[in-house]
Amino acid sequence: MKKAFLISLSLGLAALSSAHAAPPRQPRAPGIESPGYVWEAQSEEEALLLKMKGDVARGKIAYQGCQGCHKPDASGLPDGTYPQLAGQHITVLIKQLSDVREGRRDNPKMFPFAGKHVVDTQEVADIAAFLSSLPPPGHNDKGPGSDLARGKALYEQDCVSCHGGRGEGNAGKFYPVTAGQHYRYLVRQIVAIRDGSRRNANPKMVRVVKDYSTSDIGAVADYMSRMSLPAEK
Ligand code: HEC
Ligand code: HEC
Repeated sequence: MKKAFLISLSLGLAALSSAHAAPPRQPRAPGIESPGYVWEAQSEEEALLLKMKGDVARGKIAYQGCQGCHKPDASGLPDGTYPQLAGQHITVLIKQLSDVREGRRDNPKMFPFAGKHVVDTQEVADIAAFLSSLPPPGHNDKGPGSDLARGKALYEQDCVSCHGGRGEGNAGKFYPVTAGQHYRYLVRQIVAIRDGSRRNANPKMVRVVKDYSTSDIGAVADYMSRMSLPAEK
């Protein structure tokens, strides 16, 4: 009895200590701050992922490791801490996940749950298929609504060519769906893209937002946060 108890105790302790082993740190790959940066230069894994077929049912299971932050319906958090992901283009999900896995988009908080040590290539394809198949929840956080005319003017002048009249983006070009995204997430990303801390950014977009003030960013993000796409794709 006593011996069996000690064995199980030591097994338990071993399991406990391996569970508490520090997760690998996110690698760091060259990004927009590096000379010679090429936007959407695909890693080997990303090129493979773009050819693979994901399975929605398996993706739903693999997504369980993500839903603590992004929520079971993938709507994220209204305060913008976690983006809404439902209905995003498969290509965009694959690119963003690849960039986090390779270390071109810094996300030390998410990396322990999305790195190659926990999620394999097939699971990334499956999760992307699952998320893309979900209907956008349509209850995202909106901006204050105080400067929408200016937001619309800025959007039509500077953003519509890539992000589209309804915020639908462009799957073939890796332009994200921004319709239905939380206002405060949109603001944070535009600032990060303008200031260079989102290191996987598109240089053409950086040029467009380079001179945007905080109030320009608030206005355009507010306008974007009010776009929505139909639930059926
Ligand atoms: C610990 C919380 C956490 C977990 C778990 C997590 N994420 Fe995230 N995720 C984040 C945060 C925070 C961001 C936004 C980072 C930023 O502001 O740039 C994000 C961003 C993303 C984005 C980019 C969205 C966009 O619009 O560009 C994708 C895609 C994503 N997560 C997918 C996943 C998947 C798939 C998993 C599971 C394998 C996962 N996340 C697990 C916190 C998390
Ligand atoms: C040349 C095309 C282009 C133009 C013009 C452009 N963007 Fe983007 N935008 C992109 C691409 C591509 C991404 C994703 C970058 C990446 O690969 O990580 C992006 C990402 C974003 C994101 C983050 C979305 C997410 O899910 O994380 C926001 C918000 C955004 N753009 C807003 C704007 C606004 C506002 C404007 C106009 C002021 C604008 N963009 C103009 C191409 C463009």
